[in-house]
Amino acid sequence: MAILPMVDYNNPVLRQKAKRVSSIDGAIAQLIDDMVETMREVGGVGLAAPQVGVPLRIAVIELPDEEIIVLVNPKIVKRSGERQIEEGCLSIPGYRGEIQRSEKVTVKGLDRFGREIRIKGEGLLAQALEHELDHLDGTLYIDHLESIDKLTPVTVDVETREI
Ligand code: NI
Repeated sequence: MAILPMVDYNNPVLRQKAKRVSSIDGAIAQLIDDMVETMREVGGVGLAAPQVGVPLRIAVIELPDEEIIVLVNPKIVKRSGERQIEEGCLSIPGYRGEIQRSEKVTVKGLDRFGREIRIKGEGLLAQALEHELDHLDGTLYIDHLESIDKLTPVTVDVETREI
């Protein structure tokens, strides 16, 4: 396992539509393991492959005290409800913004072993699912800001878990 370097905010890989994974071979399994290690190292709730410079449709999510979720080629199949929440991103350090997200989200995809999975999330999990899947389409949370006033610098060194 290895900790992967996070790409800078300006890296074009963060703005690309990531490619589907054709098969989960040894290299992909290694990438997934490295992404999990990297997410834990940087203290994130989720991490998408483009954030470590890999334009593939892979995301990992780990909420406090919950099992790790690995998503390969994920797709949102259902969303419901709306809520205003504050969000940050590991790829945009030092800022948080207020945006609108769904209350509940259902995602279909493959797990680390290529098995079909369906994840239903609400609250923080729904937020993380939407955030990470956005990354796979080259979308960042700042794209959802109603206006730039809704983006605020994080001035105090608070312990936040970014996604
Ligand atoms: Ni992010």
